[in-house]
Amino acid sequence: MPLDILLGLQWGDEGKGKIIDVIAPQYEIVARYQGGPNAGHTVYYQNQKFVLHQIPSGVFHPHIQCVIGNGVVLNPLLLKQEVETLIAHGCNIQEKLFLSDSAHLILPTHVYLDNLEEQNRGSAAIGSTKRGIGPAYQDKIARKGLRLGDCLQNSFEKKFLQACKIHNDILKKSGHPTASEAECQAYLEAINELKKYPIIDTSAYLIAALKKNKFILAEGAQGFGLDIDHGSYPYVTSSNTSAGGACTGLGVPPGAIRKVIGISKAYATRVGNGPFPTEQNNSIGDVLRKRGQEYGATTGRPRRCGWLDLVALQRAIDINGVTEIIFTKLDVLQNLEEILVAIAYQEIPYSFTEKALSSSPQPVYIQFHSWQKNDLDDPHLSFFLQEIEKRIGIPISYVSIGPEREQILSYNYF
Ligand code: GDP
Ligand code: IMO
Ligand code: MG
Repeated sequence: MPLDILLGLQWGDEGKGKIIDVIAPQYEIVARYQGGPNAGHTVYYQNQKFVLHQIPSGVFHPHIQCVIGNGVVLNPLLLKQEVETLIAHGCNIQEKLFLSDSAHLILPTHVYLDNLEEQNRGSAAIGSTKRGIGPAYQDKIARKGLRLGDCLQNSFEKKFLQACKIHNDILKKSGHPTASEAECQAYLEAINELKKYPIIDTSAYLIAALKKNKFILAEGAQGFGLDIDHGSYPYVTSSNTSAGGACTGLGVPPGAIRKVIGISKAYATRVGNGPFPTEQNNSIGDVLRKRGQEYGATTGRPRRCGWLDLVALQRAIDINGVTEIIFTKLDVLQNLEEILVAIAYQEIPYSFTEKALSSSPQPVYIQFHSWQKNDLDDPHLSFFLQEIEKRIGIPISYVSIGPEREQILSYNYF
C-alpha cells in the first residue's frame, strides 16, 4: 500500500515544507501526524512566502486533500486564522481539509501553562515555542484532554470551560497570568467555525484511500533530534517525530509504508536549548545564519548553526528506516572558504540524551572544497554528494538549492 513518510532528520526546519510542495504532485493526500502549531513549514507559492503551522504543506496543489491526523494537537484559533489567510490568497482549502475527531485540542490555558513551565525551569528552560504543545500532550497522556470530536456533543462548552478553569486555578496559585473569558470564548467560536470541515475518523478515511491505491504522504513536523523518546531528552518536543509516529498519529498500518523520505540540511541548525555537538558558536555560525536566513519560521528566534553531523544523521537514518534522503540548502555552502562534515566523535556517547551528550563529544571532521555553481556538473558539489551518499549508505534523491519550488535538482531519482 502506497504510504510514504517524510520527516526531518535533524532538529527541525530542514526544509520539509518546501520539499513537500515539490513532491506533492506524486500524491493525492498529505497528512500531518504529530506536533501542532510549534511547526512552521515554509512554502513559496506564486512568489509569495507562506508559513504553514497546522495545514499540511501540499495545500497549494489543487488536487491534494489535506488531513490533520489524530496525533496532532490542534489549536482551533490558529487553525481558523491559517485557513482564513489561505482563502484570502485564493487557495481553495474549503473542499480539501479533513480533521481528525481524535486530535486533541490546545486550550488557551495550555499556552499560559507552557509559559509557566518554561519560567519554572529557569536556566534549564527547553526553549519551547510556547504554543501550549507540552501541556496539551500532558493532558492527552493523563487521559483528561478534550478532543476535536467532543465539540459535536452538547456538553462540550461546559467541559471546555471547566478544563480552562482547572488550568486557570493552577496558574493563579503560581501568581501567573490566566486566560481571560474573552480568550476562552474566542477559542469556542473558532471551534464552531471549524465544524464547517469534516471532523471525522481520519484513520478510516486514510485506510479507505490506501485500499483504493491512493498515494498518501505523511508529513512529519519538527525533526528526529526532537523526538520525545529518541531525541536529546529533556530538550525535545512532546511527540514522536520519528517514522513510527506516522502509524500511531494517523492510524495506518506499518505494512502500508513504501518509502521513508528523510530531509536534512547540508549543514545543521537547532532552535531552542539542548546539545548540538557540531555547533559553531562563532563567525562560521554567523555566516551560515546570515546566508541561510536562519531565523525561526514560528518564533523568529535566531537558529543556532553548525556543521552537518553524520553521526547523528546515521542514527536518524537507522532508527527511522530512511530509504532515501533529500539534502536542502546546498546553495548556502556555495563559495564558502571551507566546508566541514563530522564523521565521528572522539568519544562515542552511550546515548543521545542531554545527560550523555552534556560532556560535549568532540566531533572528528573531514573537509570539503566548496563549489562555485549550484549545479551537479560542478565537480566539488558532485564529490560532496557522492562522498556523503557513500558514507550514509542510502540514496540521495534530490538536492535543494533555494527556497522556491523550481530550485531543486533531481539527483539519483530512481
Ligand atoms: P521546515 O520546518 O522543515 O518546513 O523548514 P522551515 O520552513 O522552518 O525552514 C526552512 C527555511 O529554508 C525556509 O525559510 C525555506 O524557505 C528555506 N529553504 C528551504 N529549502 C531551501 C534551500 O534549498 N535553500 C535555501 N537557501 N533556502 C531553503
Ligand atoms: P518544524 O516543524 C524547530 C523546538 C523548540 C524547542 C523544543 C520544544 O518547523 O521543523 P515545543 O514548543 O515543541 O514544546 O518546543 O522543540 N521546536 C522546533 N524547532 N522546528 C520546529 O518545527 C520545532 N518545533 C518545536 O524550539 O527547542
Ligand atoms: Mg520550521
